[in-house]
Amino acid sequence: MTILCVNIDHIATIRQARGGVEPSLLEAAKIAEKAGACGITVHLREDRRHIQDADVYNLRWSIQTKLNLEMAATAEIISIALKIDPDMVTLVPEKRKELTTEGGLDVWREKNKLKKAITRFHHKGILVSLFIAADRQQVKASAEVGADTIELHTGVYVQAQEKKQRAGELKKLQQAAALALNLGLSLNAGHGLNYSNVQPVARIKGLQELNIGHSIISRAVFVGLARAVKEMVLLIK
Ligand code: PXP
Repeated sequence: MTILCVNIDHIATIRQARGGVEPSLLEAAKIAEKAGACGITVHLREDRRHIQDADVYNLRWSIQTKLNLEMAATAEIISIALKIDPDMVTLVPEKRKELTTEGGLDVWREKNKLKKAITRFHHKGILVSLFIAADRQQVKASAEVGADTIELHTGVYVQAQEKKQRAGELKKLQQAAALALNLGLSLNAGHGLNYSNVQPVARIKGLQELNIGHSIISRAVFVGLARAVKEMVLLIK
């Protein structure tokens, strides 16, 4: 069964707009967990535009489920992540000017760098997921560098306007998923998923976790976070 990990970055986006303490990330995590989230995801970006270092430390010790830390594989963030000791890190590419993570990692090109980072995390017992496009070469490279999990980037599927194009992108996700499972990788997916496009992705065979943030926090503005999470959990089931 596919489970939901709620990305609460944008609770921090609202807080940072005023620089105070509201809304509380810890309260958001608690509500999301109570409503059925099986994990909490945050992205500690190099520019600290939403999540701050202290947030991740505080979440580490207060959440009841598991903590997935999204991050770029830079020296600074790796050393922070090793101290925080999350249950899993998801390595993502990061560009300063992007609004959100734009593409998947080029694992094929960055094999050596990623292999070294993965070894360091594994020494501490931290699982490593790689955020990649639905591409055979990237899936194979992810297995080669020793990742535990891949997170398939659903952004292209989400952006596809025409039915046929969307079906084609879904097929690519399904094929990449099948290859990942064959290679012994666990399988997650996410990016841009919302209440109307999530179900075909949630049905992909072998999919374990979906990481969803923006659409849930957006819906929470109108119906509250608990209901927004519950509705998404129901759709995924
Ligand atoms: N997965 C990864 C790797 C991401 O970088 C993000 C965005 O932070 C998400 C999932 C969640 O995307 P969204 O906020 O569009 O649901």
